[in-house]
Amino acid sequence: MLHPDTLIRHVSEAIGVGVFATRRIPRGTVTWARDPLDILLPTAQVRDLHPLQQAIVNRYSWREGDRWILCWDHARYVNHSCDANCVGLEVQFEIALRDIEPGEQLTDDYRSLGAFDEPFPCMCGSTRCTGRVEPADLPRIRPLWETRFAAAVVDFHAVAQPLLPFVNASDLARVATSKELSAGHA
Ligand SMILES: C[S@@+](CC[C@H](N)C(=O)[O-])C[C@H]1O[C@@H](n2cnc3c(N)ncnc32)[C@H](O)[C@@H]1O
Ligand SMILES: [Zn+2]
Repeated sequence: MLHPDTLIRHVSEAIGVGVFATRRIPRGTVTWARDPLDILLPTAQVRDLHPLQQAIVNRYSWREGDRWILCWDHARYVNHSCDANCVGLEVQFEIALRDIEPGEQLTDDYRSLGAFDEPFPCMCGSTRCTGRVEPADLPRIRPLWETRFAAAVVDFHAVAQPLLPFVNASDLARVATSKELSAGHA
């Protein structure tokens, strides 16, 4: 489930729509959490879908082991940015890496999600844009996103967390560990 203070808006002809903040979302806020309504599709089932259904699954879901996860809400419309303001990293939730202002787009770094197989030209417009989103870049960029996650998660308990009921206990333990790690580096 995506943070409630968000809506879908047109971005451009080439990118399509994206998700934007309707109110300020402070750093450390959970912006997305897995919830029971998300749709889990075994790979074998995806193979048997109608091509029109497959096209939607390919565009909007990501692979986790031998199944695909398709968000049931507008979380599926979050775009990629090479300077993303949200990140998750093998947890079942994502947090804001910096304050996200009203009207600002929420973005992920798809490379950190391992969410896609085919590279695509990037139009994120960030000064850090690499021009092309390459799945193979994950090992190179992972330490950077781990550092940013650890820095932002420090604020986890200091901000309003409307999605907290959807964060599971093991992920909350990960929050504590990340906070300790970042305190150790301070
Ligand atoms: C999960 S969808 C995001 C929602 C999408 N913009 C839409 O309107 O349906 C992922 C697709 O959005 C487009 N997209 C997302 N981020 C992009 C970016 N930075 N540059 C170019 N296209 C992007 C690509 O076509 C990608 O396959
Ligand atoms: Zn980019």
